[in-house]
Amino acid sequence: MKISVIGTGYVGLIQAVGLASFGFDVTGIDIDESKVKMLNNGVCPLYEDGLEKLLKKHVGNNLKFTTSYEETIDSDVIFLCVGTPQDKEGNTDLKYIFSAVEMLKKHFQSQKWLVIKSTVPIGTNRLLKERLTGYDIEIISNPEFLKEGVALKEFLNPERIVLGFDENDSSSKEILEKIYKNFKEKNIPFILTNYETSEMIKYASNAFLATKISFINELSKLADKTNADIKTVAYSMGLDDRIGKKFLNAGIGYGGSCFPKDVKSLIKQFEYNGVVPKIITATNSVNENQIKWFFGKIKNYYGNINGKTFAILGLAFKPDTDDLRESAGIKLIDLLLCEGAIIKGYDYIKQARENACNIYKSNASKPFHGSNFYVLDNLYDTVSNVDGIIITVEDNKLNYEDWSNIFNLASEKIIFDGKNILHKEKVEKFGFEYFGVGLK
Ligand SMILES: NC(=O)c1ccc[n+]([C@@H]2O[C@H](COP(=O)([O-])OP(=O)(O)OC[C@H]3O[C@@H](n4cnc5c(N)ncnc54)[C@H](O)[C@@H]3O)[C@@H](O)[C@H]2O)c1
Repeated sequence: MKISVIGTGYVGLIQAVGLASFGFDVTGIDIDESKVKMLNNGVCPLYEDGLEKLLKKHVGNNLKFTTSYEETIDSDVIFLCVGTPQDKEGNTDLKYIFSAVEMLKKHFQSQKWLVIKSTVPIGTNRLLKERLTGYDIEIISNPEFLKEGVALKEFLNPERIVLGFDENDSSSKEILEKIYKNFKEKNIPFILTNYETSEMIKYASNAFLATKISFINELSKLADKTNADIKTVAYSMGLDDRIGKKFLNAGIGYGGSCFPKDVKSLIKQFEYNGVVPKIITATNSVNENQIKWFFGKIKNYYGNINGKTFAILGLAFKPDTDDLRESAGIKLIDLLLCEGAIIKGYDYIKQARENACNIYKSNASKPFHGSNFYVLDNLYDTVSNVDGIIITVEDNKLNYEDWSNIFNLASEKIIFDGKNILHKEKVEKFGFEYFGVGLK
């Protein structure tokens, strides 16, 4: 069976390389020529643990990349993994989906199965089906649930496979079960349903996780005022298996390429359908305020931050990724720079540091950022001579750093931990003044 994957970003590249590792003949298609060139040379344009090694193993054998849609002619199955960003109002912008489908249409000559992995609003798969009336093509909704940072591991061991079909489609189930045979053998749950349910599962999952985060973040503000300790509260809540301990760490709010845009899109989908989304609206507004609230804590402490130098530890939106989209660290950097602070930024992932340099160099609307924002390749250089250390990534590696050395290097011995990741007692023992989120 021949497979094409359209869009070789975080989702598409994992899908292409992962399916090649299952033995399929895979062609990855992207409009970005430089990305395609890098991939054909076995170089990964994004950071994901283990991905480049697997890419190198398969590229030139049963995996290739191209910008030409013509290559899809002899593919049986095409996975659509292009981006679905938000527009100015928060709706999902489907322009990449529609343009990919228009390009594909020119090369539909035999029967094909088009699998939509991109996150799309409820109703989109049916709309695409209508747009492709007259073509011998089946559309299957197969939302993606990968977690950046552990994406390859997740691809090989997913928690579930969700497939949404058209009611009159009798061939797709067998085709998809063939492709995902490895998962069937591992007894990974398959949810076979209609388009709309499949589409809603994706938004419901992300919105629920985002709500858990906003819930604990809202509580953290009350903890801050009352001497309650949010870490102990969250830990104790999490021991109840109806609640679960994940996504209950208070901090500076969620970011990334999915939660913020998917939550906003879901709000818009409610509104479009005349239903008032109370919980999800609150999830979004709590999240948008959380970073400002934390920034307020920093400002309150210093009074005036103009000319103060801060080390920001964490540039990407989470550990082990280079993805800076909607990163809370970057948002905080923007707030600090706007008030005249000088920022020394660091991330454990080299590509995240490179991406941060690119953002600030290329952002013409914020010319002043260039001079006050530095990215350093070493954590200890980053914390040297700063007026404060701000943690913006939930990475336990930070606890294994030499905090005694860091104490000596920093000018002011102050830590603002926006992820409550450091062991408070330990750094306080070294003499740091420590501020977390909702800690006693
Ligand atoms: N990143 C994640 O963690 C994640 C997880 C689950 C679901 N998703 C969803 O998956 C989709 C893709 O996300 P992503 O993070 O991989 O996006 P991305 O921006 O990293 O990648 C999209 C890729 O599509 C390419 N592209 C755009 N238009 C194209 C076209 N017409 N033809 C060929 N290629 C084209 C772009 O050049 C880019 O390489 C989105 O809908 C997203 O919401 C993402």
